[in-house]
Amino acid sequence: MTKIQEVDIWTPIQIGDCHLAHRAVLAPLTRNRGTRSVEDEHTWVPNELMKTYYTERATPGGLLITEATPVSIRASGLYGIPGNFTEEQQKGWKTIVSAVHTKGGYIFNQLWHQGRTTHSALIGDKTPESSSNVPIDGTFQWNGFSARPYEVPVAMTKKAILDTQDDFVQAAKNAMAVGFDGIEIHGGNGYLFDQFLHSNINTRTDDYGGSIENRCRFIIETVEKLCNAIGPSKVAIRLTPFGLFGQTYGSDRLQQWSYLCGQLGKFGLAYVHLIEPRFDELKSAYEKQSALKDMVEQGVEEVSLRPFRKALGESTPIVTAGGFGPQNMNDGIKNGVSDLVAFGRYFVANPDLIDRLKSKKPLYKWDRSRFYGPFDDNEFGYTVFGERELASEGDILKAQLAD
Ligand SMILES: Cc1cc2nc3c(=O)[nH]c(=O)nc-3n(C[C@H](O)[C@H](O)[C@H](O)COP(=O)(O)O)c2cc1C
Repeated sequence: MTKIQEVDIWTPIQIGDCHLAHRAVLAPLTRNRGTRSVEDEHTWVPNELMKTYYTERATPGGLLITEATPVSIRASGLYGIPGNFTEEQQKGWKTIVSAVHTKGGYIFNQLWHQGRTTHSALIGDKTPESSSNVPIDGTFQWNGFSARPYEVPVAMTKKAILDTQDDFVQAAKNAMAVGFDGIEIHGGNGYLFDQFLHSNINTRTDDYGGSIENRCRFIIETVEKLCNAIGPSKVAIRLTPFGLFGQTYGSDRLQQWSYLCGQLGKFGLAYVHLIEPRFDELKSAYEKQSALKDMVEQGVEEVSLRPFRKALGESTPIVTAGGFGPQNMNDGIKNGVSDLVAFGRYFVANPDLIDRLKSKKPLYKWDRSRFYGPFDDNEFGYTVFGERELASEGDILKAQLAD
């Protein structure tokens, strides 16, 4: 057996049914480069440009995770995001998956429901849904979509919960049908599942709210249904136990996500994907640390992923993401907290990231203005790059997605 000290990001590992040659993973990245469907203005379809983007980032034995993919129109909420619920979309994903496989890579499909973080105008004039009728404070806007106040969401009925779980199961079956190696449930970043997990959003008094166990019920039931439908080795989940994005200010974080990981550890999932506490979508690592300071002062000795590793047990691999670069990419693996590392912004700017990390070549810095489309020149900053500056050590921990 390989000693933990000898393991690093280049050590092969088995994830579900995939024999990975290394542990450097493409993080799920919404890039809004899909093509609007001619059949329905609210659906977007994977295209040739996306195929180029994913194929360029594929390596033999490397794992890619797709951008977040809505499981229905109701689950959607941005321009340019390709779902996985129509035949047209499946056709598009199939060519991407095949191209990645031809290069010897593996690819999981991240499945998504935005919940209250959308607008009725983007989902066929239906009211956005959530755990409770608690709106996001502020306005919603996107490229091509003018700013409007967030709407009061409708609290999901039991039937809506069951229907949504069916949508996830169907999308997972669709993913299997086109050859994906697995699916990753998007259970973080303030989207639908997180809206059930956080006590400041979930004010329900039924079986899906009011206690740690009840707030976790929706997500655990969904995981169970997905495992029954496609097998646990094809199912993964992403969680943000320390997330604040999407106004997720719930209490009992350590207890709740430890309970959740304890339950998830029983399924034999392909992996659990956790975001580092230091990372936040809108704050720098330094701002995030001070935002979490209260938690530390309340007697939590270490704000880290370690409690969740303990709760999950050793047999479920952990992918970790948030602020990793050449300097710290082995930290989590070396200290036993995680098994794989996902890279987001560095992978945006460096399609050949794996080769660059391996051969210790310098990395380019990302250009935030090209993160999220759609643009008239969608390829720019996506598969085509102009002159770029090199990243300097520490950039990744400074201002986060806003930088
Ligand atoms: C452009 C962009 C799009 C993102 N889209 C998603 C997404 O679709 N799903 C998700 O779970 N996280 C998403 N994230 C978060 C990343 O997966 C990752 O957790 C984050 O960028 C931190 O990793 P990094 O420090 O390596 O960039 C996105 C981040 C960026 C920069």
